Amino acid sequence: MKCRKCSEVAVINMRQHKLALCADHFIEWVPAQVEKSIRKYRMFTPQDRILVAVSGGKDSLALWDILLSLGYRADGLYLGLGIDGGFGYSDESQRKCEAFVKSVESGNQAIRESGSQGIRESGNREASSSDSPISRFPDSLTPDPWLPKLHTLSIPATYGESIPEVAGRVQRGRGKPCSVCGLIKRHEMNRIAHELGYSVLATGHNLDDEAAVLFGNTMTWQVGYLARQGPVLPEGDGFARKVKPLCRLYEREMAAYCLVRGIDYIYEECPYSFGATSIAHKELLAELERKSPGARQNFYLSFLRAKENGFLNDHNQELSPLMHACERCGQPTTAPGLCAFCRLWVNVKI
Ligand code: AMP
Ligand code: FES
Ligand code: ZN
Ligand code: ZN
Repeated sequence: MKCRKCSEVAVINMRQHKLALCADHFIEWVPAQVEKSIRKYRMFTPQDRILVAVSGGKDSLALWDILLSLGYRADGLYLGLGIDGGFGYSDESQRKCEAFVKSVESGNQAIRESGSQGIRESGNREASSSDSPISRFPDSLTPDPWLPKLHTLSIPATYGESIPEVAGRVQRGRGKPCSVCGLIKRHEMNRIAHELGYSVLATGHNLDDEAAVLFGNTMTWQVGYLARQGPVLPEGDGFARKVKPLCRLYEREMAAYCLVRGIDYIYEECPYSFGATSIAHKELLAELERKSPGARQNFYLSFLRAKENGFLNDHNQELSPLMHACERCGQPTTAPGLCAFCRLWVNVKI
């Protein structure tokens, strides 16, 4: 199969777009798609300070790489969950994030050196970056180069317990730590973004993830969840806006992007994810996609369009729960008194 743009050998065929691309055109196409989503859903501007939550997996590392290549100032946040699974899952994930930020630093260094040697080249780069939405590391050409930082926080070191340990002693975690894990991750991402002054928190959720969540919420008509599901969750009370810039890209496109860009990521899934309902929903939608290319994309994007056109507007008001600030941590919560995160620790320590 040949690239639609240059007739070189294609590395990917995206049947839902009827588009096959070679490696070079694919790594131009992906950031351009992400930039379109950022603008379409008004996620952020170059003035925002962005914190990308990176898990060491393909989606979030690809997202960080794409935002940097588009010229956004995005730092990373890795949360160490203390999950081993017999292969050091959390440690290995952290190493992938650290290796990524090191590779960006050395790449930037190389660009800076070549920029300082040849002023003409930097002039050319600036000229070309202004007519293209894709500018590769433009800051490396300025006198005060900016380098992305990776913030890391270990849950066991901070709270004295790993995620499986917390899940083992609370009702919410019975049998599976995923629900407690999601709760702790969301809380800590919010807290850290707030404390470090980031206006935007970006996660690597892709279209496969979002379509599976939508499917689950539709199966049970969780209208409140449906009303809140979307690529942007507005900021509130000093807490960062949450965005999902990969929401229109398929998971296989992110894997291909990492491969072509040479981004090393953790291939293993979290050892607790096996048997999760969301994975069963993903498989169902993947089967549908095989029979009918574009079905998954249509399902999710038609939902977003319907919402833009007012479907669920009534429910927005009816069902958006009233939020209060948690008495202990100040984060917005629907519960009176303590939020669900703080309630995890009340009987242990505060
Ligand atoms: P998941 O909830 O595991 O499907 O992950 C969804 C998104 O949450 C990822 O794309 C990341 O942006 C973020 N994320 C997941 N795990 C971590 C982690 N340990 N540290 C920081 N961000 C994470
Ligand atoms: Fe949290 Fe698997 S990543 S339980
Ligand atoms: Zn091409
Ligand atoms: Zn709280």
